[in-house]
Amino acid sequence: MGRVRDPATGDSVRVRDATVDDAPGIAAVHVASWKDAYAGLLPAAVLDGLSVAQRRRHWRRVLDPSSVDRVVIAARGDELLGFAHVGTAHDADAGPGTGQLVTIYLHPDVWGTGIGRQVHDAGLARLAERGHRRAVLWMLSTNARAARFYERQGWERDGCIRVQQFGGAVVIDHRWARGLPSA
Ligand SMILES: CC(C)(COP(=O)(O)OP(=O)(O)OC[C@H]1O[C@@H](n2cnc3c(N)ncnc32)[C@H](O)[C@@H]1OP(=O)(O)O)[C@@H](O)C(=O)NCCC(=O)NCCS
Repeated sequence: MGRVRDPATGDSVRVRDATVDDAPGIAAVHVASWKDAYAGLLPAAVLDGLSVAQRRRHWRRVLDPSSVDRVVIAARGDELLGFAHVGTAHDADAGPGTGQLVTIYLHPDVWGTGIGRQVHDAGLARLAERGHRRAVLWMLSTNARAARFYERQGWERDGCIRVQQFGGAVVIDHRWARGLPSA
């Protein structure tokens, strides 16, 4: 999928499809990113209770060859820096051509370096290759950094919300949508 430079270090960053062997690295980034991104937005007990081992099991399932979802990662050598997970949208009102950016997480050390956009674009390209023409994502309504990022990448809120509970706290998610480039 190609290489980009880490602007901070000049090192080469490779963006590629993940395999099941990437599950441990993805799990570690997932937990580190949650802890920083959601500090003050989700209860501390929820963040303190995050388990890399549990996440690893989750990602092994997602990355099983039988799974239809796709995950792309950015890595510098053996060091996994971030990932995007894409699949088909399962919302009741999603049309057949609608894909979903299920998650995108970078390690906090590389936020604001341009790697997020590279992983994002590679994930959306995977959806377009599968024939999706439109995509949605769900985002915690208070996640201002991600909202700025999605606006820059052409996403817009479509007016749908959902309510979730995390450790006793009620949080609101907004749905965002955008068209996809032709494959
Ligand atoms: C959301 C997330 C993936 C976005 O990543 P990001 O760091 O904002 O995005 P990028 O890596 O593309 O960086 C873009 C920023 O880097 C800057 N930048 C620096 N060097 C750059 C380069 N060489 N190329 C592109 N942008 C560069 C851009 O100007 C931009 O800065 P700005 O925000 O001041 O405009 C990331 O912040 C993250 O993992 N957050 C925590 C998890 C999360 O909230 N996920 C979303 C859940 S719904």
